Amino acid sequence: MVEIAESWSDLVIDHLNIGLLMIDREGRICLFNRALSRMTGLKKNEILGRSLRSPNILLQTIISGREFQDLSPGAVLPVMGSYNGATSTHIIRNKSDVTVGAIAVFIPAGRQQELEDAVIKAEKLAILGQMAAEMVHEIRNPLTVIDGFMKLLQQNLKGTPKEEYITLILAELKHVNRLISDFLQFSKPGYSKRTQCSITQIITEVAMLVENEASLRKLDIDLDIAKNVPDIFGDSDQLKQVFLNIFKNAFEALSCGGKIFLETSWNMQEELVQVIIRDTGMGMDEQTMTSMFDPFFTTKESGTGLGMFIIKKIIDNHDGRIEIQSKQAKGTIVTVFLPAI
Ligand SMILES: Nc1ncnc2c1ncn2[C@@H]1O[C@H](COP(=O)(O)OP(=O)(O)O)[C@@H](O)[C@H]1O
Ligand SMILES: [Mg+2]
Repeated sequence: MVEIAESWSDLVIDHLNIGLLMIDREGRICLFNRALSRMTGLKKNEILGRSLRSPNILLQTIISGREFQDLSPGAVLPVMGSYNGATSTHIIRNKSDVTVGAIAVFIPAGRQQELEDAVIKAEKLAILGQMAAEMVHEIRNPLTVIDGFMKLLQQNLKGTPKEEYITLILAELKHVNRLISDFLQFSKPGYSKRTQCSITQIITEVAMLVENEASLRKLDIDLDIAKNVPDIFGDSDQLKQVFLNIFKNAFEALSCGGKIFLETSWNMQEELVQVIIRDTGMGMDEQTMTSMFDPFFTTKESGTGLGMFIIKKIIDNHDGRIEIQSKQAKGTIVTVFLPAI
């Protein structure tokens, strides 16, 4: 067991793109990975067991108990004098917190820049997303005021030719409000709260939420919930949004009546939790099949085209997958796959 663990960790260490050099308490080199071999031109077997010449910053790390950042690689290995990169030193302690050695990490310049750029980009995107969500939220208040006064004006203009303008403005306001609601559903993708959750519970809650609308629309929902489906690790609120959006689309596809079937199961072959939602609605044409996940793509007069886009983003964030099969005038089958915990 120990042997396997050691050989696996050796493999990993040798495949890293950063250089690693470790010394024991006596200053003898006990680890020298392949990346460092490439950086220095030195061979591992010539180096292992040799001692670093004092004074050396890695030895100093052990003696002083202090770790160093942003060093030039030559400060630890003089042969790396002009190497373009950054080095840091770290103390290695065993389980009893006793210092057993120190390690130097060598990061090539380009790689470090790449990592820094990626972090900056991710931070910028998160800030932008948050700002957009706050701004969209703020837009709602003036819209409510406009909507209120427009309704007052509508009363005053009743029966006049100008009433039509107000009707148009109110319809547009309604559309903007729908866009805002859909956008806010998924405005904080980076802030998902993942916990262990049960798909049975998520589906049961969603079914309760849509029950009323289904009976108003005189639509039947047939649930087939499997027992013993493993739990998933996810954001239950976001996953509820996924299934609510799928139900909403199914309702809208069933304007002339019909049925919705929902089935949960454990897909043993793929080792994934599977939820199938089938409707007997209008189905989709080819153009809709290829564009349905695009933001703002809609075939409905009052649609926002954000539902499927949001569904896909949430499922992708959960390392899951969504599949759609559809036939015009026959219906649509949406299958969601999610990894078990
Ligand atoms: N169950 C379904 N049956 C038929 N068409 C569907 C179904 N689900 C999605 N669609 C199609 O995908 C499009 C995009 O869906 P969505 O992103 O939820 O936006 P919206 O519902 O606001 O139109 C819909 O306009 C519709 O044409
Ligand atoms: Mg929709």
